Amino acid sequence: MLSPQWLDQLRTRITLSALISRSGVRLLRAGREQKACCPFHSEKSPSFTVNDEKGFYHCFGCGAHGDAIRWMTDHQGLSFMDAVKELAAEAGLDVPAPDPRMAKAAEKRDSLHDVMAEAQGWFVHNLTAPGGEGAQAYLASRGFDAATVQRFGFGYAPEDRQALKGALSRFPEPMLIEAGLRIVVEDRDPYDRFRGRLMLPIQDARGRVIAFGGRILAKDKTPKDSGAPKYLNSPDTPLFDKGRTLYNLHRAAPAARETGRLVVVEGYMDVIALAAAGIAEAVAPLGTALTEQQIEMLWRHIETPVLCFDGDAAGQRAAMRAITRALPLLRPAHSLRIVRLPQGLDPDDLIKAQGPAAMRAVLDEARSLIDVLWETERDAVPLVTPEDKAGLKARLMAHVEAIAHPDIASLYRRELTDRFSAFAFPKRDSGWSNQSQPRGRPGRNGRFGQPAPAPSSPESLERLRRASSGGARDSLAAAVIAGLLRWPAQIAQHAEMLARAPSLDPRLALLVDSVDAGEPLESEHLATILAANGLEVPGPAAYSGLRFGFLGPDATLEQDGPDLASAILILVERPMLEAALKAATDRHIHEFTEESFAEQQRLRERMLEFDARLRHMAARHAASS
Ligand code: UTP
Ligand code: MN
Repeated sequence: MLSPQWLDQLRTRITLSALISRSGVRLLRAGREQKACCPFHSEKSPSFTVNDEKGFYHCFGCGAHGDAIRWMTDHQGLSFMDAVKELAAEAGLDVPAPDPRMAKAAEKRDSLHDVMAEAQGWFVHNLTAPGGEGAQAYLASRGFDAATVQRFGFGYAPEDRQALKGALSRFPEPMLIEAGLRIVVEDRDPYDRFRGRLMLPIQDARGRVIAFGGRILAKDKTPKDSGAPKYLNSPDTPLFDKGRTLYNLHRAAPAARETGRLVVVEGYMDVIALAAAGIAEAVAPLGTALTEQQIEMLWRHIETPVLCFDGDAAGQRAAMRAITRALPLLRPAHSLRIVRLPQGLDPDDLIKAQGPAAMRAVLDEARSLIDVLWETERDAVPLVTPEDKAGLKARLMAHVEAIAHPDIASLYRRELTDRFSAFAFPKRDSGWSNQSQPRGRPGRNGRFGQPAPAPSSPESLERLRRASSGGARDSLAAAVIAGLLRWPAQIAQHAEMLARAPSLDPRLALLVDSVDAGEPLESEHLATILAANGLEVPGPAAYSGLRFGFLGPDATLEQDGPDLASAILILVERPMLEAALKAATDRHIHEFTEESFAEQQRLRERMLEFDARLRHMAARHAASS
């Protein structure tokens, strides 16, 4: 370890302002300090100050703060040790002999960098070597020009299971495995991870290759067709932590400084298509939802990065997931903006179909976080009964409570309360418009205004309808949580389905995350995690109206597991179905065609089916107890 005394000595030998100006920041003298427009966020008037006496920089706008070492790590993207080494060389100091264990780890990373650099060189070579024709043809079919292909370092991994091993034979097998390039499965021979794929290097903030993504060459092959996933990424390695990496950040960050904008898209092909269309400031996460670390990384460069999502339901869910993740992190001036792409088009498709201008227009229409949050919750379920309205209000307030920053939380509370009141209780005499009218208001839509109740038992249906929507949806969620805590192994089983929920109960989200993160599958332990996050384990009172078998004292997984699965399905799909039915009903009222009627009826039937199932589940238990 480096001693604090030595680090102080290093700091005093460095003139911070000189270091910062050398990185291209134009500093102006202001009294004892120097000022500039902040290199960590975009701004028009300078709030970034450098104090050479104290050896610190500070930005009053975004809070960026640090010394010379911090500058080298945060602005120049160096690792701590590399920063120290570079500064020491400049100050004419020798870095004291480091801890041998740390030295060893650093050495290992260094040599893994060599492995990755060599692999990248080889993949690129393969593209133009015999055997690379298929990959070339695929690239041509996507319309990437030669400059783009070169700039982004496209390569090709041949089919042969041992090809990479042969080409990188100067590295020992364990290194290739540690670099994620070879796979070893118990007592079988190791083999190349990437085979028959178009290869893309994934680089760190300094542009060093730390991982790869590989795409199959088939046109629009989906995982379902073949078993082979469309994209394959490197696993996490000592070099690569996918939750802390953003594809293309090393090129996008300098570009963002120019344009004042940073765009986040879903896939690396979209990043590349945007760059080819002249929008260089785009990044992508690596096949997962944005993590907290990635949001913080974005904020280090731009205060309100723009997130692009598909126009479909899955895209909307992804947007809500990003919003929920960002709420606890919000701080003054830092937020997200959100773009909803035209249905079924990713940025790459949109640029191909309508040109770069269309993409720019879409980006210019990015909406604020609070607008998207409000509209998503408002449209999640029709507001018919007082319970529905209370449910909407409760969901909005739950979001407010997720905000850690007190000022932002109270501003959100005010704003959302205002919007809620105007929407739920529109004033008919002033400013009353169709738009601010609650959806699904009875009467307005005539005989298709709402799903007709089942002929047999209108009241029970109405009760069940509420059990999966609005405030009572919370009790269904509570029942599901209780069921999952009873059989924690079921959490992983249903994680995928739960992840599709339009606005997942925070407790369920946390359970899924915890299990994903490898927490032990024990009820007690998971309950502790909930409690530690300020979330309550639902007691029987929270789901008193729902007498599901899986909540009963002698429930067994074998007998009651399927009902738990159904309850989850209803919890997740019912609100989506409800929104779809609402849309179909509106459409039918407009079009009044055979087709629109059929679609409306189909959705209505599915909804009745759901409700019948829910009723059946509850009834079965009532009968058996
Ligand atoms: P998409 O399926 O939307 O692919 O996945 P895409 O970006 O449109 O790619 P093209 O245009 O078909 O080539 C978006 C992202 O999700 C991850 C990848 O990071 C991809 O960029 N992904 C997708 C995987 O990791 N594995 C997969 O099998 C599919
Ligand atoms: Mn695509």
